[in-house]
Amino acid sequence: MFIALDGGDGSGKGVQIGFLKGWLAEHGYDSVFVRDPGDTPLGDRIRALLLGDSTVNICPIAEAALFMASRAQLVYDKIKPALNAGKVALVDRYLLSTIVYQGYAIGATEDEIAELWRVGTVFAQGVLPDLTFILDCPPEECERRLAREKDRIEARGIDYHTRVAQGYRLAAASWSQHAPGEAFVIDATPSPLEIFEKIKTILESRIR
Ligand code: TYD
Repeated sequence: MFIALDGGDGSGKGVQIGFLKGWLAEHGYDSVFVRDPGDTPLGDRIRALLLGDSTVNICPIAEAALFMASRAQLVYDKIKPALNAGKVALVDRYLLSTIVYQGYAIGATEDEIAELWRVGTVFAQGVLPDLTFILDCPPEECERRLAREKDRIEARGIDYHTRVAQGYRLAAASWSQHAPGEAFVIDATPSPLEIFEKIKTILESRIR
């Protein structure tokens, strides 16, 4: 089974990933955890280019291609082998992030979004999550939570991140047109434990 957690910067994904890992281990599921972008030698280099190095100019379509290339390697090296071995694959972000950050957030049209889903699915070698949890957090609240130094994408300002938050909702609403599996929008404003209760309830009813 393939589970993805996604959401805006500062939506509290890290804490929920921790709970999810704990829950899977406690219930005896053999799982592999990866974060996108990164977690392969190629992916780590691409990640450094995308998020760390602000001296390299990256145009929007090249940015999308780089995120997709990093993901292609991650699928090949880690996600596919884990799923083939019958393990649970848990990912911190996935193709949905590309659809939202490199699509909706830069004002892509519905046709362009559909194209991004198609190309993104090819790069992901058709390996898409069974279950996606989307942490929905107002950008102003996310901003407050991001107390540390921001990376290249986090630093894009409130307007961009407002479009990111809207993008997640739009992507969830049109999910079945573009992707298999199920996506659930989870309100990320209650306490971390209350949020996890909601995730857990859905997970318990779906996991196999
Ligand atoms: P990361 O430090 O992993 O952020 P977080 O801890 O919030 O997941 O950085 C990932 C950043 O890259 C984040 O700002 C979202 C962005 N991103 C994209 O723009 N497109 C993508 O396809 C992916 C996977 C991430």
